[in-house]
Amino acid sequence: MQNVGILGIGSALPDKIVTNVDLEKIVDTNDEWIRTRTGICERRVAAEGEHTSDLAARAAQKALDDAGISVDEVDLIILATATPDSPMPSTACHVQAKIGATRAAAFDLSAVCTGFIYGLAVGSQFVATGVYKRVLVIGAEVLSRILDWSDRSTCVLFGDGAGAVVLGPREAEGLLSFKLGSDGTTANLLHIPAGGTCQPATPQTLEDRLHYVKMSGNEIYKFAVRAMGEVTQEALDAAGVDKKDLDLLVPHQANWRIIEAARKRFDVPEDRVVVNIDRYGNMSSASIPVALDEAYRSGRLNRGDLLALVGFGAGLTWGAAVLRY
Ligand code: ACO
Repeated sequence: MQNVGILGIGSALPDKIVTNVDLEKIVDTNDEWIRTRTGICERRVAAEGEHTSDLAARAAQKALDDAGISVDEVDLIILATATPDSPMPSTACHVQAKIGATRAAAFDLSAVCTGFIYGLAVGSQFVATGVYKRVLVIGAEVLSRILDWSDRSTCVLFGDGAGAVVLGPREAEGLLSFKLGSDGTTANLLHIPAGGTCQPATPQTLEDRLHYVKMSGNEIYKFAVRAMGEVTQEALDAAGVDKKDLDLLVPHQANWRIIEAARKRFDVPEDRVVVNIDRYGNMSSASIPVALDEAYRSGRLNRGDLLALVGFGAGLTWGAAVLRY
């Protein structure tokens, strides 16, 4: 099997910043509650007319530039998203058109907040088997359009953004292992009830606000703290490496308290964990690649570093990947 590595990283965020104080004017909440319960201070919100594919295309182009690879070389685009531009065609096809990757196949992948890890796992197979040489894996979301802005228990938590990597063959070690999981019996802990084939859109579903995110926060919290450590350990074991050798752990950014509780339970030093939830909130599939890009651009991530990425999300789904950057 061919070694698979990350050849380039990029991200894109909307310009508009919405602070906790801004939210105080919309719902019955306050800066102190949001900061202490979640660690979030502000989030980005897409402008009118700015779609998931726009953010994804910008992140993808930056990752290609970083890798020094032209769009003509891209073989495949995998876009992990829970907020497609529309139900069909795939948002990956819009990205393909926007960046002009005329040779590329393109499809969307649905694993919500674990989507980027699932995308890495899927994309790397094509490279490992020699089928493709240049695979873009993107996590992109415009969650602000599927939030109920009258529901304080959800609208304060999320943000918009996109991150991308280019996968390709390389001589040195790259992706060492991944572990993925799902438990569909817990699907209703985090879901959007209507708008699919179960409950197609009707005036009643709109009136009942069933097209927005519904979440049982406490149950997900407990699950996340346990699952993050367990799946990271499984991926480390599969890679045959010890957690004490990890240079960086990049967790899904859903809640600072979840990250901190998982970190303590998993017993890794604070300075090895990438946290940026204070500035972006939970960007679902985009949160891991955006955090990865920030770590890279700030000099925290260097070639040869041992890295673990870990996520969890609706499904419920969870996953971790271990790689040498
Ligand atoms: N502002 C002020 N008060 C609020 C707000 C708010 N924004 N939201 C809820 N409250 C109130 C509640 O109504 C409740 O009041 P009550 O005691 O009078 O009933 C009180 O605060 C406590 O509510 P809890 O839900 O118990 O608060 P908790 O400390 O559990 O924090 C939170 C809630 C932040 C949602 C937490 O449970 C969490 O982060 N869960 C994980 C969620 C998550 O990770 N989701 C994403 C998964 S990834 C994906 O796939 C997208």
